[in-house]
Amino acid sequence: MVVADPEAVNGSKFEGVETDSYALRIFQSTLNLLAHILIGIVVGVCIVFAFRNGLPLNMTNMHIVLCVIGYQLLMAEGILALCPHNSWTAGFRLVDKRRTHTILQIMGSVLAIVGSVLKMLDKSTNFNTLHGQFALVAMVFTTVSLVNGLTSLYAYELRKCIPGNFSKIPHIIFGVVAFVAALISLCYGFDYGFFKTWTGLNQHYGFAYAMMGMAAAFTFIIIVNPMITAFSKTVRMCN
Ligand code: HEM
Repeated sequence: MVVADPEAVNGSKFEGVETDSYALRIFQSTLNLLAHILIGIVVGVCIVFAFRNGLPLNMTNMHIVLCVIGYQLLMAEGILALCPHNSWTAGFRLVDKRRTHTILQIMGSVLAIVGSVLKMLDKSTNFNTLHGQFALVAMVFTTVSLVNGLTSLYAYELRKCIPGNFSKIPHIIFGVVAFVAALISLCYGFDYGFFKTWTGLNQHYGFAYAMMGMAAAFTFIIIVNPMITAFSKTVRMCN
């Protein structure tokens, strides 16, 4: 191969500009890969735990499967679908990224809400634990974000009645609050004795705490991009 300008190939010609943005891109792609791996571990372990006694599932195990697939798998992937560095949607057109996001969020919200309501109906006294209280916060914000998401989807058509950013910024904030509340509820779930005992070897519950750490890590990686978007949209709107 004949190279007219060898410097252009190794990037040194654009030192400081090309190299920096390339390094940042590698960093963002690596974080994206890490988020997918952590989602797989957390959701996978929860499903193995829920099926530990085989079928049929009791109500507690059923709510674990539905809530974890809803919040930590579908909603997480739904938020990631819009991220420019997300591996499996990077080649999609914007319109298809939005469609993917909408479908995943609707499916995730329905599963998570059904899982939560089933467990609520199974209990005689509701919201008497921190696990249940944070799950309620997640449910309320998920519902608001879902309704708000539809006005964001049709922001262009509704622009005469609602300025675009008026539905988009709250949609991002409500979605992030719902996702973080679901994480906190999940961590209180991991703190239950029966989960810690299942994971614990010789009464060492390190794995349950590692699960909390992994769930917190992927939640943080996932919410960074929408928070930057909400912040820059707010700054632009104020200027
Ligand atoms: C994001 C995931 C989860 C969500 C959104 C969720 C949601 C809920 C909800 C809404 C309730 C009913 C609360 C009430 O009516 O008082 C509940 C109860 C319960 N959940 Fe979960 N759950 C999740 C994960 C887990 C996990 C991973 C475990 C265990 C390993 C678990 C164990 C329990 C237990 C034992 C109860 C009954 C006691 C209580 O209300 O605190 N949950 N959950």
